[in-house]
Amino acid sequence: MIYQIEQALKQYIESLEKSRLKDAVSYALLAGGKRLRPLLMLQVIEHYGLDPSLYIDSAIALEMLHTYSLVHDDLPSMDDDTLRRGKPTLHIAYDEGLAILVGDGLLTDSFLQISKQPVLSDKQKTEMIKILSLKTGNKGMVYGQVLDIESEQKQIDIQLLDQMYEYKTANLLQASLMLGAVASNQFEALPLWEKLGYHLGIYFQIQDDILEHTSTPEILGKSKSDDIREKPTYISIVGYQNALNILNYHEQQINIFMQQLEIETSEIHETILQIKKRKA
Ligand code: IPE
Ligand code: IPE
Ligand code: MG
Ligand code: MG
Repeated sequence: MIYQIEQALKQYIESLEKSRLKDAVSYALLAGGKRLRPLLMLQVIEHYGLDPSLYIDSAIALEMLHTYSLVHDDLPSMDDDTLRRGKPTLHIAYDEGLAILVGDGLLTDSFLQISKQPVLSDKQKTEMIKILSLKTGNKGMVYGQVLDIESEQKQIDIQLLDQMYEYKTANLLQASLMLGAVASNQFEALPLWEKLGYHLGIYFQIQDDILEHTSTPEILGKSKSDDIREKPTYISIVGYQNALNILNYHEQQINIFMQQLEIETSEIHETILQIKKRKA
C-alpha cells in the first residue's frame, strides 16, 4: 500500500507545471515520511471489504495536508527547525516565501484530490471535505498550532496540553480514520473511529515528547527544538515516569476501541502496532 501511496504522490507532482514550485513540492512530499495518515484511511477501507487501490488519490490528500502542516510548523516564525524527514527543512533548502506557498498549495490541492476521486459519491466527497476541514482548520489542527505557539515559555497544566495535542495532532489522525469510514459508507461507525483517533493521537504526541527526550536528531530525522523554545511537554509537566503511565492509559483505550471496532485481525492493527514501536 505504501508503494501505491508513493506512486500517487509522484503522479500528483508530475501533474504540476515544471517550475521551482514543482521542485519544492517534490522535495517536501518525497522526503520519506511514514505515510501513516493515508495508510490508516486505506486500511479502514480494506477492513470494510472494499478495494483500497480505488481510493489512493483521495487518501494522499491526507499526506499532502500533513506535509503542509510540517512545512509551516518548521518555519522560522513557528518552530524554527532546520531538519525534517532527515533533510534540511524546506525553507532552508529553498526559501521561506516558497515554503509558505508550498504549504498553501498542498493544503488547497488536498481538497481537489478528494473532489476528483471517481469511486466516491458526491455525498461521500462532501462529508469527507467537511470532516477534513473541521479537523484541520481554525476549529482543528490550526487552533492546536496556535495553542502550541502561545504556550511557549509558559507554565501550563496537563489539561491544556492535552487539548493542544488533541487539536494539533489527534484531529488529523481522527480525520484519517473517519475519511476511511465515510469512503466505506460506515457513517454510524464514525464516533468510534473518532474516539480511536483521539487516543491514538494523544498517544502519538506523548510518544513524540518521549522520543524528543530520549532520542537523537539523527534517529528522529528532525530537529529537537522543544527545549530551546521552552515548550511545555508531557515530560516537563508530569515527568518521565508519569508520561509513561499516561501513555499506557491511552494504549489501553486504543485496545478497547480496537475491540469495539473489531479490527484486531485487520491490517490496521499492524499499523497501530508499528506506531507503538516507532523510533521516529
Ligand atoms: C510528525 O508526524 C508530526 C507530529 C504530529 C508529531 P509524523 O511522525 O507522522 O511525521 P512523518 O510524516 O513520518 O514525517
Ligand atoms: C507538529 O507538532 C504538529 C503539526 C505540524 C500540526 P510538533 O511541532 O510538536 O512536531 P515536530 O516535532 O515538529 O514533528
Ligand atoms: Mg510545532
Ligand atoms: Mg515542530
